[in-house]
Amino acid sequence: MNILIIGSGGREYAIALKLKNEKNINLYFAPGNGATSRLGENLKIKDFYELAKFAKQNDIALTIVGPEVPLSEGVVDIFKKEGLLIFGPSKAAARLEASKAYMKDFLARNNIKTARYLNTDDKEKAFKFIDTLSAPMVVKADGLCAGKGVIIANSKEEAKEVVSDMLSGASFGDAGKFVVVEEFLDGFELSFFAICDGENFVSLPVAQDHKRLLDNDEGPNTGGMGAYAPSPLASKELIKSVEEEVVKPTLKGMKNEGSPFCGVLFVGLMIVKNEPYVLEFNVRFGDPECEVLMPLIDGNLSEILLNAAKGELKPISLKDEFAVGVVMASKDYPYKSSPKAKISVLNDVKDAHIAYAGVSEQGGEIYADGGRVLVCVATAKSIKEARDRAYELCENVKFYGAHYRKDIAWQALK
Ligand code: AMP
Ligand code: GLY
Repeated sequence: MNILIIGSGGREYAIALKLKNEKNINLYFAPGNGATSRLGENLKIKDFYELAKFAKQNDIALTIVGPEVPLSEGVVDIFKKEGLLIFGPSKAAARLEASKAYMKDFLARNNIKTARYLNTDDKEKAFKFIDTLSAPMVVKADGLCAGKGVIIANSKEEAKEVVSDMLSGASFGDAGKFVVVEEFLDGFELSFFAICDGENFVSLPVAQDHKRLLDNDEGPNTGGMGAYAPSPLASKELIKSVEEEVVKPTLKGMKNEGSPFCGVLFVGLMIVKNEPYVLEFNVRFGDPECEVLMPLIDGNLSEILLNAAKGELKPISLKDEFAVGVVMASKDYPYKSSPKAKISVLNDVKDAHIAYAGVSEQGGEIYADGGRVLVCVATAKSIKEARDRAYELCENVKFYGAHYRKDIAWQALK
């Protein structure tokens, strides 16, 4: 079976690696990275219509979309119009991630718990709402900002300054010309993933990401420095309430509103006094969460995603194991781009592997060539063992300037 994967990160590499466990899978990537070319063929085609043409001419049985940008640009709609099977939400359904204001109003309309908020492009209204909140409070740019459009303000004055900079276009361009102001929720965060077919869903193990650059959750925000799953912080009861109070009403609401949701619904949750509040929706796998989820799925991923794309999702089974993934980043990440650096792997580690992300290939060697370079992933019967193995692999991966957090999964092990 020929499968096309759209994207170029560690998430797409992890999906590919999982698919490679199956027999008779040929992979194509658009555009892929310096290591995906070892798992299949990297394509240079960027235009979605051209890509759909390629898919038709090359018997692509399924296309899987990794990142949010092509989804919000409507790649799924274009492929579907051509009669092609594609796993991911339509442009309309992708608004759950592409517009935070749309997402908040959707939650409110469907009685799904979220922080008290105001959506506006009017500075005076924003200021008035800020005056009703107590610090800290949160200001979010409406549009896609690669995970950077959320500011936690420590005073009303700071929040007003952030709002002014966003609305004027100074801080996030057009993405910030509409804002969400909301109350701060104090709790712990979990990432909940459901594979959806428009009507039904299957839940994946609950994961935890580590967004801050440094140990003890210090330093600036990043795209994510490591993840693990399943998290013992997610009790059976909590999972049940997320399914009943968030995922089900979301799928029902999206269907009723004419945009049934097919693809990965990634719910960013804040758990406050054991109750799940939605911080955000993403309409795709998280990165690096995907890298730890893929090894935990039992059975053929191609079958699961094909069924979902057809609207015929079936129950799936999960391995009774834990996975831990540690991101190794380049020298100056996340501040500025770093010089290219050759990657060497000294020794393999049992039940551990590398998911390559920001890398390029030259003369048969793989080079660090991006911010988050790769993820060392390990699986085991306990989180501690998986974590130890992942770190053992990190110690065996060498490139100039490499750095990584040393405390991934701390919340599960404290
Ligand atoms: P988002 O992209 O909306 O998930 O926001 C990015 C990060 O900002 C989240 O992972 C949280 O750590 C934090 N955050 C967002 N909204 C809130 C909130 N209302 N209260 C507390 N923290 C928040
Ligand atoms: N790891 C968070 C994200 O993919 O948005």
